Formats: sequence, C-alpha cells, structure tokens
Amino acid sequence: MLNKLQWWQDGVVYQIYPRSFMDGNGDGIGDLAGIRQRLDYLAWLGVDAIWISPIYPSPMADFGYDVSDYVDIHPLFGTLADFDALLGEAHARGMRVILDFVPNHTSDQHAWFTESRASRDNARHDWYIWRDPAPDGGPPNNWLSAFGGSGWEYDAVRGQYYYHAFLKEQPDLNWRNPAVQDAMLDAMRFWLDRGVDGFRIDVIWHLIKDEDFRENPDNPEYHAQMGEHRRLLSTYNTDRPEVHDVIARMRELLDEYDDRMMVGEIYLPVERLVTYYGTGGRGVHLPFNFQLIGMAWDPALIRTAIDQYEAALPPHGWPNWVLGNHDNHRIASRIGPEQTRLAALLLLTLRGTPTLYYGDELGMCDVPISPDQVQDPLEKNMPGLGLGRDPARSPMQWDDGIGAGFSHATPWLPLGADYPRVNAEALARDPYSLLHLYRKLIHLRDEWSALAVGSYRGFSAGPRLLGYLREREGQRLLVLLNFDAAQQVVDLGGMLSGKILLSTTLKRDGEPVASTLLLDGYEGVIVCADCT
Ligand code: NOJ
Repeated sequence: MLNKLQWWQDGVVYQIYPRSFMDGNGDGIGDLAGIRQRLDYLAWLGVDAIWISPIYPSPMADFGYDVSDYVDIHPLFGTLADFDALLGEAHARGMRVILDFVPNHTSDQHAWFTESRASRDNARHDWYIWRDPAPDGGPPNNWLSAFGGSGWEYDAVRGQYYYHAFLKEQPDLNWRNPAVQDAMLDAMRFWLDRGVDGFRIDVIWHLIKDEDFRENPDNPEYHAQMGEHRRLLSTYNTDRPEVHDVIARMRELLDEYDDRMMVGEIYLPVERLVTYYGTGGRGVHLPFNFQLIGMAWDPALIRTAIDQYEAALPPHGWPNWVLGNHDNHRIASRIGPEQTRLAALLLLTLRGTPTLYYGDELGMCDVPISPDQVQDPLEKNMPGLGLGRDPARSPMQWDDGIGAGFSHATPWLPLGADYPRVNAEALARDPYSLLHLYRKLIHLRDEWSALAVGSYRGFSAGPRLLGYLREREGQRLLVLLNFDAAQQVVDLGGMLSGKILLSTTLKRDGEPVASTLLLDGYEGVIVCADCT
C-alpha cells in the first residue's frame, strides 16, 4: 500500500533534449533561455516535471554525454544564472526539474582524465580504468565499445589501455575507487543544493565492471545488422552485483534532502531491471522501463510484457513506462502515425509514471538525415545500420513560421518537412488533435486518481485488443485499445454500464456504454464503469 504519494509517482515527466527544444539566442542550437520561453507551453500541456538531457560543459563528442565539468553550464546553453532562473520559473509553475547526470564516464577533456593519463603515479592515476596490454600488446580483454570497435584505447604515455564503454573520448571512471565516488557525490550535491528535484542517471548499470576483467561471451543471437558492438554479451562489463552498493551511496545522498528522486537508465531484461529498485530503500526510485521501446507493437505481446513487469516488481517498486527518448526511433515512425493516439492512451493509462519525449505529443516523426548531415557519432562509426539517433533529435516544431519557431538560424539538425502542418501552434488550434489528446489525458490523470495511481487488472477484450481496469477508491475505469485497422465490437459481458470518459478520437466523450462497445480502427477509449 502506498502512503503519501510522491510527485514522481503520480506525475508525468517530459524529456527535453536541450539542443533541439528552443533556441533562445539565435545560433541554431537550443538553450536554457529557450526552455524558459516555452515553460508556459509545458504548463499548458500539464506535465509535472521536465528532465533535461546534459547541459554541462562538454566538447560535444557525444552531444553532452561527454562531460568536462560536472558543476557548470556549457556556454552554448547559457550560464548558471540562466539555470537558476529556469529552475525558479519551473518551480513557480509547480514543475520539477530533473537533471541528466552522467557518472559512468567523463570527457577525455575533463581535468581528472588529463591528470590521470599523465603518468602512472599521479594523484588520480586510478580514477579511470587502466590496464596493462595483453601479452601480445593488444587490448587487455575482448570488451567492446557500444559505439563500435574495441572498448580499449592505448595511451602511449602510460603504456597502458583505458576502458571506454562508449567513445574513446568518453573514458570510464573507476567507480571502485572511493575518491571517485566522493567526487561524483559532491557534484550531485552541488545541484541538489541549487534545488534540482532529481537526476536521470546515465547508463547506471554500467558503473561497476568485473574485478577480474573476464572475457565477455559470444552473443548467440548476434547478426550483422545489430552492429558489431552486439557481437558479445555484456556479461562482465555491466550489471555487476557491486553496482548496487554505489547506487546505495547516491540514494543516501538524495535521502538527505526532501522529495528528491533518481531514475536510472537501464537496458536490461525485466528480471534484472527490477533489482535496481534495491533492497531496504537503497536503490533508484525508478529504473527506466524501456519495454515498449524495444518490443513489437502487438497487443498480445504488450499484455504479456505488462503482466510480467507487474509480477516482477518488488513490493516497494513503483512502475514506469516510456515510449521514446533521444536514443531511439520516434514512436510515430516505429508504429506509424495512424497509431500514435493509441500509443498516447497506453502510455498515460498504464500503472506507473509516464515519461514523454519532446515532440511525441505532436506526432513528430524521425527526420531523414542525409550522409552529409550526420551529427551522431554512433552513425558515423557504424553507418547505414539504422542505428543513428539524429532522426529522433530534430528541432521541436513550434509553428509554421521560419525555422518552425525553433530558431531563425540554420538549425543544427534539419527540421521535419511536415512542420507547416505538424506543429504545436496548429495542433493547439485543433481541438481534436493528438496534442489535445495528450493534454486531455494528462489532465484526466489529475482528475481521476485511478488512472494515475490505481491498481491494474487485465481485461480480456478479444484478439487485436488490449484491455485493462484501473481502480482506486471507488473509481473503476476500463481502458480498451483496438490495435486493428478494422472496427471491432467489444463484448463487455454485462460487467459494466457506464460512459466514455475519453476516446482517442476526442469525439465520444460522455457517450453511454452498455453491454457492447463498437471501437473504430485504431481507436482506444477510457470507460468509466458505474458513471451515469
Ligand atoms: C546513454 C545516453 O542516453 C546516450 O545518448 C549516450 O550516448 C550514452 N549514454 C553515453 O553516455
């Protein structure tokens, strides 16, 4: 049973990729001043928290996920004063701010790494993962980088290799070293003292590596299209048991403050994922649940995934759901525009905290990127496999004016060609738009606590349909989603008579429901049982 609900349990989180959200200073790249200008939009939409992808000083080898100073703001994005102003204005609107924290690796331009690589006996010599070459002079073991090639880079000065799970410009920190832990906790404290409400922790399951550096086994499911980096399983370079001890230290720090939270980025199967809730209040508040991103868009599979997730959650584990983020193809491109309304309904009515990716509320699609426009290092290293992340990072489409209202300058990534039609201003004018559906769903969650925090129970509605009941304190809501292009009749078996609270078409509100219900192709509804 839940006691007092925390904001990160009944709220909705909205991810901002800052380079692409709003350009406030006219250089074609989004920034903090831009986000401030758009806070009223976010308040209108009704989101409770924003998570901002990294805004720290960085050489931008991986667009901010290569941090060269954890306690400052990149001049591209603004200053600490701009950050404080944004935080204050968000808080004034009742909106929380979650920062992206990147503890697994720094930039190779971080002063710590400069010092560490200078000799084998400097004060920070063991702040990173240094190993002697193998007897043949090659890398110490077979670990691969997630961005292609070996995970090891030779450094001639030290005559050793350092490990990098991502780019060679992103050396992994040695989290087994308590001094590293202390330094990173100090950085978190810096932002907590400034008033941030939480952290999204980048690749948290990577923090600790095998003490013995054992070789990773072959991936039996590997095929070339997956990319060379998936040739091996990440058995020994991720998800090591000791990672939970360092997470416990982060949690202890957060618990020194009121109402703070952390959400961990973790791509693991559900039974491993849920271990990150920790025991005895020592884990992350939310381990990101990416199942809907990775799986086929099929109601039977989704039903099984929900059931397995619900069954795997520990008693204190609060669920969460995600449809998209800056590392994956956009939901509208994955499932097709005709099903984005179903996706919105699913995300905002499943039990648990939803995280929206900027622009998904408009139905923004992946934007085609020609080879000469590629920015993403992942695409540069492994071209042509469809791994590139630029398509999902295109500028937010605000209006049909110059630069889609994002910037007057040439944007750092191309705009979606559909922006004259698919933009926030146009969709806000159309009461039946996808944007209004998102807004209405977010507001319904405030009105009907069963939707935000009620219990979940599957409802067998028939093939190509997904159904479930959300119940709380006398509220009984039935959610039905038709994954088929054709109309379907749902037999409610006399189990309820009520009315439609919301249809994804936004055109059936208040319609009475008796023993059967006709759903249009790709239509979803929330039925209030017992409402007259
Ligand atoms: C996960 C982030 O989401 C991704 O964008 C980044 O490239 C890697 N971590 C490396 O930091």
